[in-house]
Formats: sequence, structure tokens, C-alpha cells
Amino acid sequence: MGRPKITVVGAGNVGATCAHWAAARELGDVVLVDVVEGMPQGKALDLMQARPVFGFNAEVVGTNDYAATQDSQVVIITAGIARKPGMSREDLINTNKNIVAAVTKEVMAKSPNAFLIIVSNPLDAMCYVAKKVSGLPRERVMGMAGILDTGRFRCFIAMELGVAVEEIQAMVLGGHGDDMVPVVSATNISGVPLTDLLGPERITALVERTRKGGGEIVSLLKTGSAYYAPAAAAVQMTEAILKDQKRLVPVSAYLNGEYGLKDLYFGVPVILGAGGIEKILTLKLSKEEEAMLQKSAATVANTRDELKM
Ligand code: NAI
Ligand code: 2OP
Repeated sequence: MGRPKITVVGAGNVGATCAHWAAARELGDVVLVDVVEGMPQGKALDLMQARPVFGFNAEVVGTNDYAATQDSQVVIITAGIARKPGMSREDLINTNKNIVAAVTKEVMAKSPNAFLIIVSNPLDAMCYVAKKVSGLPRERVMGMAGILDTGRFRCFIAMELGVAVEEIQAMVLGGHGDDMVPVVSATNISGVPLTDLLGPERITALVERTRKGGGEIVSLLKTGSAYYAPAAAAVQMTEAILKDQKRLVPVSAYLNGEYGLKDLYFGVPVILGAGGIEKILTLKLSKEEEAMLQKSAATVANTRDELKM
């Protein structure tokens, strides 16, 4: 058996960074696809030339067509436009809907049994597009957002407390928008509840910074949005599937009654392994968290309805 094949569609900031980390971690061979001629080929060749320096053996191929993507195990879809200052993720909907639909069709023609990890925004709606167009079961079509949003929350808590990031356990659920829900009741520092170590005002400030974490980076970068942490999160999901790690992580999953929600992609805790989304977990939430989750679900449902699919 050869190495697994990972396709990354969209060779922009997030896509190229996914290719970089997936190859450097030797998760498999990587095919980088983009519509811009020469760009994915150039980035792939550049990554290939990094291999002797860092000593990794994955192959990276850049291309403008899908022939080389044949029989990919995992496909990460990052194609589309990104936010500029003043834009919400929802502003991207029509352009990215057409792009994600077209890309999904191409991907499915070559890799009908792949796991699809969607990154393009607005995230939960783009997962819905990929699920509809691919016809794949919900185990195989998922969105990257919760690991990123949780990474931001963990990072802010670690910075505030002066503690190593690995010690912070947390969970951010809900839609990938400004009303996402950092679950304070599920947050601890090596087992010590966050509420024992920080007062309510500081916790509220960190929750708010997390919710606006994507926007904070957009306003600093001015020409695009975050990509290092988003790519790290997508690569962690890829690794969990390819290595059957059974990680308990938040991802955007298709809900069919869980959390009282139906026909909706939404950020929830899942077990991620060789079967993709192997299980969706239902957390016990405080009344306040439950209300915030339902508010976030209403926003995501509106965006889904705008798709008219
Ligand atoms: P980018 O602009 O750097 O890259 C996007 C790439 O997609 C470009 O190279 C473009 O040529 C390519 N593309 C456009 N149409 C295509 C098509 N039909 N087929 C193949 N490639 C195509 O943008 P970036 O920063 O990489 O972001 C990509 C997407 O991911 C955006 O929609 C962004 O909002 C989203 N995003 C989502 C995150 C999340 O947490 N879910 C986090 C970060 C970004
Ligand atoms: C982020 O959260 C823009 O969705 C992207 O950084």
C-alpha cells in the first residue's frame, strides 16, 4: 500500500499552509489544486524542495485539473474568497456557494469515497452545499471551525494565566460566526475549572475575544483572513481520520435531531476516526449556554436558507 492521498483544493493562504503541514507531518502525499495557472505547481515545487532540508518524504503535486486527485482519502476544500475588513463571513455566500458546489462535483468524480473537510466560508453553509452536491453520508462531510475557535479560546486563556497551552481543555460549539459558544462549563486547566482561576469579568472578556477572533486577525492583516491556525486545525482533522485517532473534537456536523436541530450543519463535539464522524456527543450545557447555542443555530439556519438548496 502506498501512502494515503490528501487533496487540498484552493492553494491560497489556508490551502498552501495545509499542504505544508500535512506534508511536513508525513500524513500522506498531497495534491494541491487551484484555478490559477502555475500557482499550485509553483507552491508544490517549493514544498518539494523543502523536503531535503527538513527530511520529510511526502510528495506534493500542484495542478489545475483533478486527474491527479484520483482516489484521495481526504479532501480539504479551501477554495473561495476570504473576508476583507468590514465583511462578515456571510458576505461571501453567493460566490463561495458556486465555487464549493463546482469543486465538490469535480472531487466526487475522482474520489467518490473521500472524506471531505470543508474550510470555505460561511463555513456551516458551505458544508451544507458540499453534503447536498456530493450525496455522501454525514460521516464523510464535515467542517473545520470548532478546533480553530477552541484553539483561539485556549490560547487566550493560556496567555491570561501564564500557563502552557497544552494544559487548557476547552470546547467552542455552535456556528462559525460571532455568536459561537465558548462552553465555559467544559473549560478547565489540567482539571481545575476555569471559574476557579478567573473571575466572571475576565472570562467574559476572553469569550468575547474568542468570538471575534477571526475578525481581529482580518483587521490586522487587512488583505485577507487567518491561515496558520485554520490550516493546523484542518490538518489535525485529517490526521485524526487517517490515523484513526478517535479524537473528541468540535467539528461542524450535519445534525438530524441532535441538540433539537435538524437539517443543519453546526459545531458540535464528535469522535473523529477512520470512519470520519463516528459519533456525535450531546453535552450537558448550562441554561445560559443552551440559550446561546439556540441563538447561534438560528443565525446558521438563516444562512442555510439563503442558499435556497
Ligand atoms: P485565499 O484567497 O488565499 O485562497 C483561496 C484560493 O481559492 C485562491 O487561491 C483561489 O484562486 C482559489 N479558488 C477560487 N476558486 C476556485 C475553484 N473553483 N477551484 C479551485 N480553487 C479556487 O483565501 P484563504 O485565506 O486561503 O481562505 C480560503 C477560504 O477559507 C475563505 O473562504 C475563508 O473565508 C475560509 N476560511 C475559513 C476558516 C474556518 O475557520 N472555517 C478559517 C480561515 C479561512
Ligand atoms: C477565521 O475565523 C476567517 O473564518 C475565518 O479566521
